[in-house]
Amino acid sequence: MSRGVIDSSLATIGDTPVVRLHRIVPDGSAQVLVKIEAGNPTGSYKDRMALAIIEEAERSGALRPGQRVVEYSGGSTGSSLAYVCAVKGYPCTIVSSDTFAQEKLQTMRAFGAEVVIVPSDHGLITPGLFERMRHAVDRIVDEESAYWTDQFHNTDALIGYDVLGHELLQQTERSGIVIDAFCAAVGTAGMLAGVSRTLKAALPEVSVTALEPTTSPMVSAGHAGPHHVEGIATGIVPPLLPSDLYDRVLTVDEQSARELAVPLARDEGVFTGTSSAFNIAGALHLAKEFGPGRTVATVACDTGLKYLAGDLYRAGIDQ
Ligand SMILES: Cc1ncc(COP(=O)(O)O)c(C=O)c1O
Repeated sequence: MSRGVIDSSLATIGDTPVVRLHRIVPDGSAQVLVKIEAGNPTGSYKDRMALAIIEEAERSGALRPGQRVVEYSGGSTGSSLAYVCAVKGYPCTIVSSDTFAQEKLQTMRAFGAEVVIVPSDHGLITPGLFERMRHAVDRIVDEESAYWTDQFHNTDALIGYDVLGHELLQQTERSGIVIDAFCAAVGTAGMLAGVSRTLKAALPEVSVTALEPTTSPMVSAGHAGPHHVEGIATGIVPPLLPSDLYDRVLTVDEQSARELAVPLARDEGVFTGTSSAFNIAGALHLAKEFGPGRTVATVACDTGLKYLAGDLYRAGIDQ
């Protein structure tokens, strides 16, 4: 049943569908459920985090009416913060870089954010770049008395993702399903941590797996390396992920995850991005381990529309 008139766009964050995969799940596997987050206002689950962080800062008084909000971001978080600040009337500055997708930089601008570009090292994402972006944030905090949302340490993000976890629990319960395993790749780890703490409170037996690229096994092996999955494996062990919120870490081959994007779209109608294909690759691996009669759940973080200019769908489109 459709909802009546909604008073604010912010109330359209969340309440996203859970879809069972069929054709890409090999026989002999557990069922695989995917919570599809593309329907959020900026097309990503980061809207949940941005709303929670801004509203908690309003409640605590850390953010005053009219105060500037600042963050450094490659895209999704910046877009979500720009959106929430636009609706609530806060000026917003996102520090970013020329190395990130133009669509994401343009999305932040479309929502009225000021975007400060820190030049990259020949188009590469490097630790030095993040340091320079961080310094630019410090300058804006000093010069403009701005509020820094500090996404890598801000535990208020988990409040937004608790809601995602509760939705997933209610949706599966309504269908008579008990989740045996949940998995997701980690950037800040806000999503995995928030969903994990909610699931574990309700389902003590649930197994939670953090996913990371085979080439950058920072959580499992302590060293970072190159990869091209936007938003995850940032080269640090995420401070938002305490060890009691995950049971294991699984490394996933980036290339085989990327190769899932086209079949996900064509065989399942799940049109999504690189980190989502990565999550689903992890879920398919776990589904094989768990076997028939069990349930593995994961999340499709955002929409494939954000990735059409890149090479994720190129092989499929050029055919
Ligand atoms: C596209 C995308 N996928 C996944 C993630 C990882 O989410 P989290 O930071 O909650 O671990 C991010 C974070 O920036 C992202 O932008």
